[in-house]
Amino acid sequence: MPDAPRAYRGLLDRYRRRLPVSDSTPIVNLYEGNTPLLHLENIPRDAGIDAEIWVKFEGLNPTGSFKDRGMTMAVSRALEEGSRAIICASTGNTSASAAAYAARAGMQAFVLIPDGKIAVGKLAQAMMHGATVIKIGGNFDDGMRLVRETAEEAPVTIVNSINPYRLQGQKTVAFEVVEALGRAPDYHCLPVGNAGNISAHWIGYSECCPEERNCITEACNFCGGDCPYAGTPLADSRPVMVGYQARGAAPFVEGHPVEKPDTVATAIRIGNPQSWDLALATARESGGWFDAFDDDAILATQKLLAEREGIFCEPASAVAVSGAIKDLKSGRIAAGSTVVCTLTGHGLKDSDIAIAQSSAPVITVRAERNAVRDAIMGALA
Ligand code: F0G
Repeated sequence: MPDAPRAYRGLLDRYRRRLPVSDSTPIVNLYEGNTPLLHLENIPRDAGIDAEIWVKFEGLNPTGSFKDRGMTMAVSRALEEGSRAIICASTGNTSASAAAYAARAGMQAFVLIPDGKIAVGKLAQAMMHGATVIKIGGNFDDGMRLVRETAEEAPVTIVNSINPYRLQGQKTVAFEVVEALGRAPDYHCLPVGNAGNISAHWIGYSECCPEERNCITEACNFCGGDCPYAGTPLADSRPVMVGYQARGAAPFVEGHPVEKPDTVATAIRIGNPQSWDLALATARESGGWFDAFDDDAILATQKLLAEREGIFCEPASAVAVSGAIKDLKSGRIAAGSTVVCTLTGHGLKDSDIAIAQSSAPVITVRAERNAVRDAIMGALA
């Protein structure tokens, strides 16, 4: 690799000591991570909310979602273990990410997606990166079952979040939040689908908090020596973790799997989450909870973020902000809190949804100066 000493080279480079990589691990990366933590300026003020709300914009990862954090880890380890092909079921983002990292690694990718129920941008990504797309006449949960069954018979490595390396990669989001804030937030709000990401956040925050690490004492000042925790960002607490779902796909709110999940937020159209126990443990240990929002509320928040903050996330991501606002207004999240919401994916992936619900004026005029001026004067009036 050419020498560029100051260049950021992704998570496995940045957090090498905190991740299951060794000198013999071939690093497959797209310089993922290092995403911005943006302060919401207008929405809290408009809503009369007394809190600092930050959004971790994971849509700015290389393939436009947080999945890249897990995929760099999972694909690097798959390659190290001699695998030639990876497989996943997906509501879209995992397949886009798997396809890109497989391309980078020179591996084959097989992606199972629910026919007609993934955002067109995500499908374009999987196809463009050369994955074999297998459309199934079922939902994500059916795809997950088929992937497990297939992997028993075919030489393919599963890169869904049941692959433990995925959560290891994804835990780094918490490291970055702690580094940016200089502490852990009081609350961390995020969308929950298959429930891997909320669990990964919790692993990451727990590793930042010395009180949760028995082996670390005051004497350890993260010296950069042989200490395995060298370079870990430090926090003296962990956040309350709050998971939000779409009303039609809310197994954690209902307390049981949902047979026919449905929501406009196709990324989280999941009824039988694989990381069920981990997510419940996260909520229990952190003192958190789950809640659900209907599709209209989710789309309204997506639009609010775009119109009032200039941030374009996908519908599934917006539910985290719907939840934070509701819980701050009701007092369930205490006034004065520092709240971080993970915006898991980029809005451009689902342009159909965006255009369908946009109320922005589109004016068609002749290509003449007077016509353009009249249109502008009319809009300003
Ligand atoms: N937000 C987005 C944009 C997602 O794509 C997903 C999951 C989630 C939130 C939920 O995260 O599953 O870890 O609870 N997408 C998966 C996929 C299922 O196939 O792309 P989770």
